[in-house]
Amino acid sequence: MSESPIEVVENAGFVRLTISRPKALNALNSDVLVELERVLAELETRDDLRAVLITGAGEKSFVAGADIAEMRDKTPEEARDFARQALDTFKRLETLPVPTVALVNGFCLGGGCELALACDWAVASDNAVFGQPEVLLGVIPGFGGTQRLPRRIGPAMAIDLCTTGRKIDANEALRIGLVNRVMPQAELEAYADELTKQIGGNGPRSVRAAKQAIHDGMDQDLDSALALENALFAFCFAGGEQTEGMSAFVEKRNPNF
Ligand code: CAA
Repeated sequence: MSESPIEVVENAGFVRLTISRPKALNALNSDVLVELERVLAELETRDDLRAVLITGAGEKSFVAGADIAEMRDKTPEEARDFARQALDTFKRLETLPVPTVALVNGFCLGGGCELALACDWAVASDNAVFGQPEVLLGVIPGFGGTQRLPRRIGPAMAIDLCTTGRKIDANEALRIGLVNRVMPQAELEAYADELTKQIGGNGPRSVRAAKQAIHDGMDQDLDSALALENALFAFCFAGGEQTEGMSAFVEKRNPNF
């Protein structure tokens, strides 16, 4: 049996997924997309899941896009099905009930950038290169980029990137809000550890509720979204986590969630 293109490493509910096709700079082919969806479908049912980090194998590339060799001979119908698989896979990633973070360790192009956009936020190594170069190949972003990119960085910059196909470096990606932080590649690992400690020390139910309030509220009008926040705030007062968190503060000790 061939090796899985998705490496899964776990520590106490913190799951690291590594897209592993290093000879093709981790380009997303059908096998990767189907396997990633299978892994995510398992994770989404787990109550003990705390966060998911996603990265690419090696030191050169996060994901260099959808697999161009696989796409080259597709008919329009086959292309629609291929992209539909990616849309379904990325939707599962986006709607995981816990924080999801892209650790962008190099090329983050086309479908790779779209994968990072399906995560809650991204951090990048200083050698990372971003872009939506699909127009250079005679197509448009097909894995959600035309919709998630403008929602993250605004329509003007999204149209700039999607119509010129130009590549940008990590610092420009930081400036336009595509990534939250930039660091030397050697520090990505330490960032992942720091994140695990930070989120691991917080109340698991409240972390999930915070994501749900922001994520679901963004698709609603303000009044409905504020009602959602109100319901989730009240939800946090059931189940014991809030009692422990607030008692720990009053008793000047660390909470034990
Ligand atoms: N699909 C398939 N194979 C890819 C690939 C991709 N997206 N990107 C890189 N590879 C393969 C190369 O073909 C090459 O394979 P061989 O060794 O067998 O020739 C190997 O990975 C290494 O790549 P390069 O030799 O090109 O490495 P480089 O350092 O010279 O260049 C690069 C790196 C700038 C990322 C270059 O590989 C490149 O431009 N890749 C394509 C990027 C791209 O256009 N991505 C968008 C794809 S379309 C898309 O994603 C559509 C969508 O939204 C659905």
